[in-house]
Amino acid sequence: MERGDLLKLRLVGIEYAGKDTNLYTFADPAGGILPAADAGAHISLELPNGLSRQYSLVHAGTQLGKYVVGVKRAPDSRGGSIFIHDKLRVGDIVDVAPPLNNFPLVEDAAHSVLFAGGIGTTPICCMADRLSHLGKKPKIYAAFRNREEQLLGPQLEQYGHATFHFDDEAGHVLPIADLIAASPRDAHLYCCGPLPMIDAFLEATRADGRAEECIHVEYFEAAEESATVGGYSVVLARSGLTLQVPPGSSILNVVQAAGVTVSARCEEGVCGACETRVIEGIPDHRDSILSPKERKANETMMICCSGALSDHLVLDL
Ligand code: FES
Repeated sequence: MERGDLLKLRLVGIEYAGKDTNLYTFADPAGGILPAADAGAHISLELPNGLSRQYSLVHAGTQLGKYVVGVKRAPDSRGGSIFIHDKLRVGDIVDVAPPLNNFPLVEDAAHSVLFAGGIGTTPICCMADRLSHLGKKPKIYAAFRNREEQLLGPQLEQYGHATFHFDDEAGHVLPIADLIAASPRDAHLYCCGPLPMIDAFLEATRADGRAEECIHVEYFEAAEESATVGGYSVVLARSGLTLQVPPGSSILNVVQAAGVTVSARCEEGVCGACETRVIEGIPDHRDSILSPKERKANETMMICCSGALSDHLVLDL
């Protein structure tokens, strides 16, 4: 991991947001303005236990004095959220990678419809905040398993036309296909939530014939298995190296082992830090970031999780 561009920020606040979920606020210890963030952006917390975890910002802007992220304590996680909930204390200094945005907002859309599930409410809230700043009032559907898990309710009501859904009270999950079918044909549709919700969203948008450029999703967990079959070579055009990728390895592993510095954080295709330009060859895309159109274009790839369909790749590294 490239750590040179990390910010050293102080955790200045922890606030209860919903069951098992807190809002964590980070600020520059010297009181400086933080790097700007667009709506939908996330930051990476580089934790003292060696884990790198990405969390969406609740607020965006160019003059941010603090970053606020929501973290749900997930007992079945690989340890990032548990560490944050159990070990981080107000006053701690944490390494933070500046904002990166894989979930950009189309600010001039005539209509925006935002679907949020659970902790996926955080980037949706950020987008709704931005749209309300632009004088727009988006439609927001926010789904939770129950009322105890509801997050950011007052903010969503302030920023848009918000409807809240609770699975236990409704007796079913959010009827996302019906809501998409009822949305304006020119609406930009956004979804962030657990995998089944994103799958249902994508299926419904396809079934309803929505244009690809109007569909926007943000995953916070890998949607596909990484490509680890190996058996191909990568040519690093700038470094002048040709490397073999053996079975069980990622391109990232092989490149790092050769001493080439590359940026990487999540290592599962959800953060975008390792995006690399492809000069030649056909990647086996496994990330959760590139759109189908971007995948087909084969101009870039995430080298932490994607492999090759051709016998070699030439990369801009
Ligand atoms: S390191 Fe996050 S997408 Fe590759």
